[in-house]
Amino acid sequence: MLTCFFLLFSVARASSWIEYPSDGIATMTHYEMPRDYIASCGCTGDSTHYPTAALNQNAFGSSTAYGPSCGRCFKLSLLNTFLSDPPFYPPSPKSIVVKVTDLCPLSTTGWCNATTSGPNAAGSYLNFDLSFPSQAIPDDFFPSNESYYGYTDFGVWNVTYESVSCASNWAGSKDASALGSVPALEDGACCPADPTV
Ligand SMILES: *[C@@H]1O[C@H](CO)[C@@H](O)[C@H](O)[C@H]1NC(C)=O
Ligand SMILES: *[C@@H]1O[C@H](CO)[C@@H](O)[C@H](O)[C@H]1NC(C)=O
Ligand SMILES: *[C@@H]1O[C@H](CO)[C@@H](O)[C@H](O)[C@H]1NC(C)=O
Repeated sequence: MLTCFFLLFSVARASSWIEYPSDGIATMTHYEMPRDYIASCGCTGDSTHYPTAALNQNAFGSSTAYGPSCGRCFKLSLLNTFLSDPPFYPPSPKSIVVKVTDLCPLSTTGWCNATTSGPNAAGSYLNFDLSFPSQAIPDDFFPSNESYYGYTDFGVWNVTYESVSCASNWAGSKDASALGSVPALEDGACCPADPTV
């Protein structure tokens, strides 16, 4: 059941949603999601055993539950930190492939506030809110320099994003229990295993 009903929504409200290219620049933040949690897309709880992210509401494509971005996989590569002075550049390239399983609610400020009329404070129309810390991601995923900055969590990163096939790139793609939607949610969920990229 991969035909979800968001076409109805996107036709009716086309002007509200951000149409984003398959690759570009975005910001990345992180948030805590409990392991086995069933988030907005209705993906199985086991999807949380692998890297997942929430996408800002107006790119996610819905304000209520699942949206057209649900299930899509993106390769995110760290560029530099946004809030620190000076910006921190990772000493070596670092990237991660996430599956979008959740919605980052639209707010008036903050990192998920982009609309078709303007980007977030970092100039980005997309913000990937990584579920982190997570048993799926090494604790030292985000590089830092504590001796220089005095802290390790930079909070907001500029990243490049690239839409990729989940099947060949996402760590959970070979685990059947991590794919698809929670059956009990029926039409209230939409988590394609590998939506068109
Ligand atoms: C990223 O962050 C810096 C601030 O640290 C900012 O000046 C820059 O324009 C941002 N965008 C890109 C694509 O690096
Ligand atoms: C989002 O919030 C920032 C301030 O945090 C602001 O500069 C920016 O204009 C806001 N974007 C939109 C679309 O409201
Ligand atoms: C931390 O920053 C200082 C000052 O820029 C630099 O000399 C040092 O090599 C950095 N260490 C790491 C691990 O990045």
